Amino acid sequence: MSGVTRSCTPFEGQKPGTSGLRKKTRVFMEPGYVETFVQSIFNAIGGAGGKTFVVGGDGRYFNAEAIQTILRIAAANGAARAIVGQNGLLSTPAASNLIRKREANGGLVLSASHNPGGIDEDFGLKYNTANGGPAPENVTAAIYEETTRIAEYRTLESEDLDLSELGEKSLGGMTVEIVDPVTDYAALMRELFDFDKIRALISSGFTLRFDAMHAVTGPYARAILEEELGAPEGSVMNAVPSVDFGKGHPDPNPIWAKPLVDLVMSDDGPDFAAASDGDGDRNMILGRGVYVTPSDSLAVLAANAHFAPGYAHGLAGVARSMPTSSACDRVAERMGIACYETPTGWKFFGNLLDAGRVTLCGEESAGTGSDHVREKDGLWAVLLWLNILAERRLPVRDILADHWVTYGRNYYSRHDYEAVNADAAQDMMADLTERLPQLAGTRAGNLVVSAADQFSYTDPVDGSVSRNQGIRIWLEGGGRGVLRLSGTGTEGATLRIYLERYMPADGELTIETQTALREIAEAIAEVSKLTEYTGRTAPDVMT
Ligand code: G6P
Ligand code: ZN
Repeated sequence: MSGVTRSCTPFEGQKPGTSGLRKKTRVFMEPGYVETFVQSIFNAIGGAGGKTFVVGGDGRYFNAEAIQTILRIAAANGAARAIVGQNGLLSTPAASNLIRKREANGGLVLSASHNPGGIDEDFGLKYNTANGGPAPENVTAAIYEETTRIAEYRTLESEDLDLSELGEKSLGGMTVEIVDPVTDYAALMRELFDFDKIRALISSGFTLRFDAMHAVTGPYARAILEEELGAPEGSVMNAVPSVDFGKGHPDPNPIWAKPLVDLVMSDDGPDFAAASDGDGDRNMILGRGVYVTPSDSLAVLAANAHFAPGYAHGLAGVARSMPTSSACDRVAERMGIACYETPTGWKFFGNLLDAGRVTLCGEESAGTGSDHVREKDGLWAVLLWLNILAERRLPVRDILADHWVTYGRNYYSRHDYEAVNADAAQDMMADLTERLPQLAGTRAGNLVVSAADQFSYTDPVDGSVSRNQGIRIWLEGGGRGVLRLSGTGTEGATLRIYLERYMPADGELTIETQTALREIAEAIAEVSKLTEYTGRTAPDVMT
């Protein structure tokens, strides 16, 4: 087996977005594409020599092949060790945990998250740093810079390694350690939560369903929820990971996980239901007859986290992405702790978590997590909910109602316009940005704009500044609309419009969400000239 250096030319567009490099699978399959990107990562971090990396992914189409390539490039660049999930599988939070626990220098996580998998679908590759979290912007910028000038990469001429057997192997001088993907993650969950209490809840007749959506959390959920916590076999649905996620869309929201939602909305549905996405970092929470919006879930978890042993000492602070509703701000205010507002993207929580300023964080995009790892964590959120339910012994619906009666309710919905013409979307945003200074005081539909700006973030820990992170429009009467273009799409542009309206605790707390937000939605569509620019009159997805 010998190391070889191959010359290459840069591929255009190897620019990491909100969450690593995301492209159509066929793009990643172009000869040399993975090689140049991985070599660029190593070039950007000062080389791979003597370093340890965690490698794993969500098992989607091309996961296995890309991992073999990554291992060859790592070995040829002199890496000392690669810790790889068995069969190339690692959920994103489990990868984050392994990086931290094993004090690795970083990790390569293969996933396009909640996007479908397959040769004509999506693929992704993300670099995580030694803290276990997605590389911050200065690192992703350096990686991109390298991709634009790469001229050669180092690799091995070697056979594929068998990744199905646990244990150590050697690849061109690098040790490849194949680990069970679940073991270390389950051990961490056992430290954070009261498994005995959850077991007692389940054995008392409490019923649950977890939809793994044919994705990576299947083995994790089976081991923890069924084998360890005693949920009957079959409580975990779609538990076997497949390369195309059963031809589904592994996105845990009411549209793509509709069968689960229908089940939980029926009279004889389970007491609790949840789903996770392709790589296991997102979650959707449901109780019999009720869907918990991610923003509300974050607020409820913040208010009740002390019921779980891992958080019994209280929270240092909380953080949410800017478009996420301010429901958790109200909880933080009452607790007398800080609530930070960050741009969209989990990487922005990293510094706050590392500095011990926040314990819990979350996003409207179905991500919740804590300082236990540096990624959002779907199954963790499920277990925290279960721990709270085991202590409070109330239906999910009552926990939510109690929360609103205590803090008021932030009606919230995100409207997505998918595969919009990219130029039209850019033009619309540019036009609106230009008009921002004059918007206050003008009419928008039936409402009046009270303030508007472009969100810019200064990281309180390292002082770095991230500009143009979304347009915020506040309306008289307390409504807010946010507009931004998604950084994770792979086709055209996805325009996201986030709508929020606060209702105090003594107001009407049970209006249907879209009804409660209609006037705000119309106002934002009008100010942004949505239809004029995009030709769209209704969103493709409402979460
Ligand atoms: C990924 C990131 C999240 C982000 C979400 C939506 O899941 O990890 O942090 O909120 O994508 O990002 P987008 O740019 O598509 O709105
Ligand atoms: Zn994900």
